[in-house]
Amino acid sequence: MAHTSRKPNQLGDRKGDHLRIALDGPVQRPGASNGLDRYRFEALSLPELDLNRVDTRCQLLGKTLAAPLLIGAMTGGTNEAGRVNRILAEAAERTGVGFCLGSQRPMLEKPEEVTSFDLRDVAPRTLIIGNIGGIQLRDEMDAGTLESLAQAVGADAIYVHLNPLQEAIQPEGDRDWRGVLDAIGEVAAGANLPILVKEVGAGLGEETLRALRSTGIAGVETAGVGGTSWAQIEALRQHAKTPRAIAGAVLADFGTPTAQSIIHARRALPNRIVIGSGGLRDGLEVAKCITLGADACAMAWPFLVAAQDGVEAVVAAIEGVIETLRIAMFLVGAPDLLQLRQAELHYIDNQDPRERR
Ligand SMILES: Cc1cc2nc3c(=O)[nH]c(=O)nc-3n(C[C@H](O)[C@H](O)[C@H](O)COP(=O)(O)O)c2cc1C
Repeated sequence: MAHTSRKPNQLGDRKGDHLRIALDGPVQRPGASNGLDRYRFEALSLPELDLNRVDTRCQLLGKTLAAPLLIGAMTGGTNEAGRVNRILAEAAERTGVGFCLGSQRPMLEKPEEVTSFDLRDVAPRTLIIGNIGGIQLRDEMDAGTLESLAQAVGADAIYVHLNPLQEAIQPEGDRDWRGVLDAIGEVAAGANLPILVKEVGAGLGEETLRALRSTGIAGVETAGVGGTSWAQIEALRQHAKTPRAIAGAVLADFGTPTAQSIIHARRALPNRIVIGSGGLRDGLEVAKCITLGADACAMAWPFLVAAQDGVEAVVAAIEGVIETLRIAMFLVGAPDLLQLRQAELHYIDNQDPRERR
């Protein structure tokens, strides 16, 4: 319980800073790539398909989604965060995609903070995934309390987020990460709801994924390099060039790019859920992630930006992603997501094709 002494209002201030800095940007290191630009689909000019019959639906964690898409984990715990969450959850309900809550840590410290996370009145049917940090899990929770945290907000599953890079850069961050894997193993064995593990922008690498294989988790979300960088955001939060701020700027694209993380995750966890995320910005990238092995994808920052203009703007952004995915599926001859998995996706290397023999 070493970390429970932090005042809830400090946590609220930090969440507020995070939202503001994420919106002002830049949220990633210039030139950082999610790795998907190295892949191209082969387009079919004779697809032998009716575009109107292309089916983007998928099953995830016991629910049917209109497309393999989730609004990524972002926020909760302040009035402003609650307002953003309601906009995002309502848009998810209207479009049939999943919705992930931001860290529910404020609820551990102030149970009344549940209001900014409890969205079942606007999203009664939506797949909702709760969220808690690996450190809070280790220090403050067991399988029972984790289940209660999910139940309090009607979540279908819960994410444990791993953010050692962010914590290392954050002035008030947790620097001792010993024992987190064991804590995940214990709750995954004991809890009566699906537990998934996610990064927050440095990507799950091969060794981490192999370690997670020994636990009973239901799946992972990659949150790879190439998208929102928490090292960068924490560096921007420090107004002076402190040693940690310098480290944050340098390490802003440290880790495993999204494309690579999905490939590693599918290999390490062949029969579990793999959600691709980290810098995904359109439906073509979602299509590539599915072909690389993801079951679904999450996008966070683009929907935070859209939410500033209200529910309609988020709905329009989601519909744009789904329509792009549908047309990409049509053009690679995939009537459904199973077939999209088999589509021809070529890796573009640096060699001039005319030199290849
Ligand atoms: C404003 C903001 C707040 C976030 N808060 C959380 C969080 O509380 N818990 C978590 O697991 N991930 C959090 N994330 C990380 C995202 O879920 C996601 O993994 C990461 O941003 C990469 O996706 P993106 O490039 O689409 O933004 C947050 C991201 C943003 C932009």
